[in-house]
Amino acid sequence: METQVVETPYGRPSAPLRVGAFGPHRIAFMARHGEGHALPPHRINYRANLWALKSIGGARVIAVNSVGGITEAWGPRVIGVPDQIIDYTQGRTVSLWDGEGEALHVDFGEPYTPALRRALVEAAKAAAVPVVDGGCYAATQGPRLETRAEIERLRRDGCDLVGMTGMPEAALARELGLDYACLAIVANWAAGRAPTEEVITLDEVLANMAAATAPLPGLLRALRF
Ligand code: HPA
Repeated sequence: METQVVETPYGRPSAPLRVGAFGPHRIAFMARHGEGHALPPHRINYRANLWALKSIGGARVIAVNSVGGITEAWGPRVIGVPDQIIDYTQGRTVSLWDGEGEALHVDFGEPYTPALRRALVEAAKAAAVPVVDGGCYAATQGPRLETRAEIERLRRDGCDLVGMTGMPEAALARELGLDYACLAIVANWAAGRAPTEEVITLDEVLANMAAATAPLPGLLRALRF
């Protein structure tokens, strides 16, 4: 893998890009939280990250997001490919438009690119990795986790999973004309959703993430466009 530092009109991306071959594809990896995980979700420069990926010839973005599970199918260690989003974030920079040129009103009825979603679900099948196909991602502001009442509201709104980095990333990808889909990895039950009252420990969350991400390289290698 080769490292590429990209300057963008929107400032600095979270990290240098790691570019190289992976299976049949050329891929570029962007650590959205920065190397060493120094950037909280509300401080990520989503515009610079996506612009950097596009500037080196990227056409498709697979957003790997750790999430909390809200509905039954989305328990810890589940991998899923959501098909809808509700944006509950506040105060983030939500468009590439910076006061010059025409304002954009991109179509966002299908926030994830259907063909890329299908390719992920097919790759999972080919690699024998169980995935949930479809679900509504609630993008919350963080960095704190949600209250039980907030999660209950998200559930009533029809959300299945909750994370802090899904927006405005998906909308910016659409503005840039990048295909975009999400591979969501469930780290924990969202607040109040666990079947038992036991407190979740960080060790458990890390163990869940390690277990759930283990099949990802196989799944990504099986991707065909
Ligand atoms: N809430 C929001 N984001 C998350 C969670 C959660 O419970 N788990 C992992 N990312």
